[in-house]
Amino acid sequence: MPNSVLRFNVDSVRARLPGRQIDWFDSIDSTMIEARRDAQPGRIVGADEQTAGMGRHGRKWISEPGAGLYVSIVLAAKPIPVLMLALGLATREAISAGADLRWPNDVLISGKKCAGVLAQLEGNTVIAGIGINVSQTEFPADLETPATSLLLEGVTVAREDLLVALVESVDRYTRLSAGEILREFASASSFVSGKRVRVETGLEGVTCGLDPAGFLRVREDNGAETVILAGGVRPA
Ligand code: BTN
Repeated sequence: MPNSVLRFNVDSVRARLPGRQIDWFDSIDSTMIEARRDAQPGRIVGADEQTAGMGRHGRKWISEPGAGLYVSIVLAAKPIPVLMLALGLATREAISAGADLRWPNDVLISGKKCAGVLAQLEGNTVIAGIGINVSQTEFPADLETPATSLLLEGVTVAREDLLVALVESVDRYTRLSAGEILREFASASSFVSGKRVRVETGLEGVTCGLDPAGFLRVREDNGAETVILAGGVRPA
């Protein structure tokens, strides 16, 4: 890690999250890979830098040293679609910047992505990988969704404080019932109803709510309604 990067104070986080196993690395391939090695529910794996950070749909997650929060949290398994929504809500709450949520769980500020969530099943656990852009000042120009960081949006926060807030929010949201999660997501996200979107498959229409499993419903212009099971959506 370059000397100019502030060292992450994991001891201060351990003191504020007593009883949690927190494994912190200066540099790692991906916290997802490390979390899989010992997937004990409650375990938290984080790193200052990832050399092979993973995004959804096989994309890379750029993980510049010290500029983002890169963390995986091992959770007891729950139905994935609703869990994905809960993780998005928790990340949004931790950021506390009045962010929007793009189904299923991209956190957007001013229409730009500042955090993303990846969930992978591992035995009877789910590994929740969360990446938050904290203090980056530039991003590659060719990203599919333009990116931003908290710093660029005028929010200054220490990664330690953000991690504590994130873990507390994840604990809280993952204890809610599916119905509560769906209601909270619908009220926090501008994408759930009345937004004209294009789905990665090419389908275009206006969103018309979530189904009981947490999937997004889209009404095409011919009136046909489709439930989107996977793939990103973007404003059309
Ligand atoms: C997305 O594509 O939006 C999901 C991004 C998830 C990135 C996080 S960073 C911590 C964890 N480790 C990874 O390799 N990916 C996730």
